[in-house]
Amino acid sequence: MKFFIDTANLDQIREANDLGVLDGVTTNPSLMEKEGIKGKENQQKHYIEICNIVDGDVSAEVIATDYEGMIREGEELAALHPHIVVKVPCIADGIKAIKHFSGKGIRTNCTLVFSPGQALLAAKAGATYVSPFVGRLDDICSDGIDVVRKIVEMYSLYGFKTQVLAASIRHTQHIIQCIEVGADVATCPLSAIKGLLKHPLTDSGLAQFLADYKKVNG
Ligand code: E4P
Repeated sequence: MKFFIDTANLDQIREANDLGVLDGVTTNPSLMEKEGIKGKENQQKHYIEICNIVDGDVSAEVIATDYEGMIREGEELAALHPHIVVKVPCIADGIKAIKHFSGKGIRTNCTLVFSPGQALLAAKAGATYVSPFVGRLDDICSDGIDVVRKIVEMYSLYGFKTQVLAASIRHTQHIIQCIEVGADVATCPLSAIKGLLKHPLTDSGLAQFLADYKKVNG
């Protein structure tokens, strides 16, 4: 399973990238806002900076909600850097735009997906990635991981090439559950990625090894 980091924060992206296991980055307008990135020129510069840190796919989201606007914005974003994947919301004009981009060889991430039906439309339109939002489904007492599982099974049954990118990951256990249901990618906050490293037996085992080494070597 591939690991993306879900942030627009350059320090966090660098820290995750330095681990050597990062495959890409996802951003969205809220994450860009959190970093205080204002205006088109600054946004474009920021996307290019991210692309220059990580050797992998970087999702940049369109703001337009009409077909023509999405095409215009998506083509501009895609021209910024070869790593850019155009993130498009799962609405009717978005599905049409994904179909257009797929015909032009522009890679897409269909976002704000909450059901297998939406994921079916995204795959039929030729999306590179589909992003089911695990945490936001859990927030409303639904089962986010089960939606990921259903999409993975549907794509496998019908041979769709679209990759399932589990999004809205909130904690480390979500990552483990994504592995169990066969998601192609999980996009995670840095804290959830670092959580994978934690085990008290690793800490106590290492302390013991170092203490034993000191006994004989001083
Ligand atoms: C990433 O592609 C999504 O925009 C993001 O994972 C949403 O996460 P949130 O539900 O924590 O805002």
